[in-house]
Amino acid sequence: MTVSNTILITGGAQRVGLHCAQRLVEDGYHVIITCRSLRPEWRDQPLSGIDVMLADFSSLKGIEQFIERLQDQGPKLRAIIHNASLWLEDQSGAEAMQQMFMVHMQAPFLINDACSLLLDPHQTTDIIQLTDYAAQRGSKKHAAYCASKAGLENLTLSFAARLAPQVKVNSIAPALIMFNSSDDEIYRRKTLAKSALGIEPGPEVVYQSIRYLMDNSYVTGTSLTLNGGRHLK
Ligand SMILES: NC(=O)c1ccc[n+]([C@@H]2O[C@H](COP(=O)([O-])OP(=O)(O)OC[C@H]3O[C@@H](n4cnc5c(N)ncnc54)[C@H](OP(=O)(O)O)[C@@H]3O)[C@@H](O)[C@H]2O)c1
Repeated sequence: MTVSNTILITGGAQRVGLHCAQRLVEDGYHVIITCRSLRPEWRDQPLSGIDVMLADFSSLKGIEQFIERLQDQGPKLRAIIHNASLWLEDQSGAEAMQQMFMVHMQAPFLINDACSLLLDPHQTTDIIQLTDYAAQRGSKKHAAYCASKAGLENLTLSFAARLAPQVKVNSIAPALIMFNSSDDEIYRRKTLAKSALGIEPGPEVVYQSIRYLMDNSYVTGTSLTLNGGRHLK
């Protein structure tokens, strides 16, 4: 019997999500990514081994339409990786909190609920949710972001219990992985100084964490802290 090797990664058109998608393709997986719009550079250089589905999780309708299209396509999945994210400051207003709730909690909740049936029943499968180390600590300027990521951490526990033993459900809670191009020198120096290891590790460490969670048969309902020893300082 052939088992599925298809992995769904939400928000996979750039940065961490795209890197992980490409590394998983190198490992022999077929990857489906979601994004809100197609990138112009894909016209000249199509993504190899990666299918793209358009999806906007900022409304209930957008999430439900995505789930319907995925169910219509009916792929058997080896894993679902919730990577889509918004990092908005509290001063962005009430609408910003609503958006982060939709992307970080509502979409994963509904996708897990509906699409767990798409996970291949002939093998152990995984749901992996990208949260944030800051969710464990709170933040003066990003309280709404932290709260919505903390909600996603909590959904990990409920879905891990609900879907065991067939599906393992875990989160990865990163601190700094990659700076944004708009981050200035002062911000970069201050952020690097917060961790014991003091580096910007890049997206490979997230890929390594995904592999660890997928390859390990005895880990579910956990949050893997990926923070360069930030808690030591
Ligand atoms: N980078 C870091 O240092 C860091 C630190 C801590 C935690 N994390 C977590 O690690 C994950 C990856 O980080 P990243 O920096 O690579 O993320 P990112 O570039 O900020 O965002 C990932 C994707 O989220 C998608 N997204 C945003 N709003 C959406 C919406 N309304 N509907 C659907 N998709 C939406 C975007 O897709 P499109 O614009 O293509 O539609 C974007 O490509 C995230 O969950 C993040 O919170 C990252």
